[in-house]
Amino acid sequence: SREELDGIYAFAVQLGKDAGRMLQEAANLRMGAAHASREQKEHVQKENAVDLVTETDEDVEAFIKTAITQKFPSHKFVGEESYSKGASRDYLIDDSPTWCVDPLDGTVNYIHLFPMFCVSIAFLWKGRPLVGVINAPFLEQFFSACEGRGAWLNEERRLPLVREPVPPMPAKAPSGCIFSCEWGKDRRDSPDSNLHRKVESFVNMASEVGGRQGGGGMVHGIRSLGSATLDLAYVAMGSFDIWWEGGCWEWDVAAGIAILLEAGGLATTANPPYPNEETAPIEEVRLGSRAYLAIRPAGGSPTETGRQS
Ligand code: IPD
Repeated sequence: SREELDGIYAFAVQLGKDAGRMLQEAANLRMGAAHASREQKEHVQKENAVDLVTETDEDVEAFIKTAITQKFPSHKFVGEESYSKGASRDYLIDDSPTWCVDPLDGTVNYIHLFPMFCVSIAFLWKGRPLVGVINAPFLEQFFSACEGRGAWLNEERRLPLVREPVPPMPAKAPSGCIFSCEWGKDRRDSPDSNLHRKVESFVNMASEVGGRQGGGGMVHGIRSLGSATLDLAYVAMGSFDIWWEGGCWEWDVAAGIAILLEAGGLATTANPPYPNEETAPIEEVRLGSRAYLAIRPAGGSPTETGRQS
C-alpha cells in the first residue's frame, strides 16, 4: 500500500544517511592511512586485479543487512558482498519484496580516494525498483526517490535539474550530448571483449559519428566516472544525456534506476554494441540483465510526478 511504501522510503532514507556516515568515516581514516603508506591498502581481489573488495564494503553491507532484516524480516536481501559467486543468478531478483544493496559502489574510486563513490540502496517489488537512495558523502550528494514521490537531490531539489525539452533518442545520441559509459571489470585482451567494444564506441562517437552524420555536431563529452549508480543519478539530474554499461549487476543499477525513472527518465536493458545500432529498443527495464541503457528525462513541470508509462 501507499502507506507501506512511504514507510519503506523513510526507512531507506535514514539507512542511506547512516551508511553514508560510515563510508565518510572510513574514507577519512583512509586519508590518514594513505599519507602513512600507499601500500597499506585494505583491499583484496575478487575475480581479477580490478575486481576489489575492501573491509569498508563488508562492514557497511553488514550494517545495512542487519538493519533491514531486523525491520523487515520477511523481505529478501540481495547485496553485492553477500552474493556468493557460486549462486545461481535466479537467486537474485524475483517478485518478492527485495532490498538490493551496493554498500560501496565505486570501490576502485574509494581505494584511490577519488570522490565518486557511494552507498546505494534500492527496494524492489515484482522486480521493479520502487525506492532508491544513493549517498555520496565526499560529494555531499544524497539522491532519493520513491515511486509517486518524485526524485530529489539532498531532499530539496527536484530532479531533473537540467530541463531540456526533448530527451535524446538513442539514434541521435552522439549529437551535443554528454555520454557516459562504464568500463566494467572485463580486461580480456580480445576484440570482442566489453573493454574493446567500449573503447571502439567511445572513439567512434568522439571522432566520427556526430561529424559525419551531419547536422548534429559532435558529442560534447564522454565520461566514465567509475560508479554505475552515480552515473544513473546524473542522468536523472539531466547532466548526462545517455548512459550505457554492459557487464554490471543488479546492485550496481537498482537505486540509480529507481531515481532515474522517478525523475522521468528512461532505462532499458540493452545489448552491446551501443551505439552502433540505429536505434536501441525501449522496453520496460527488467533487472537481471547485464547491460543497460539510460536516457535523461525530458524535463517538464517539477510538480508532476515523473515516471513515464
Ligand atoms: C562497479 C562500478 C563500476 C562498474 C562495475 C561495477 P563496485 O561497482 O559500478 O562503475 O563499471 O561494473 O561492478 O564494484 O565498485 O561496487
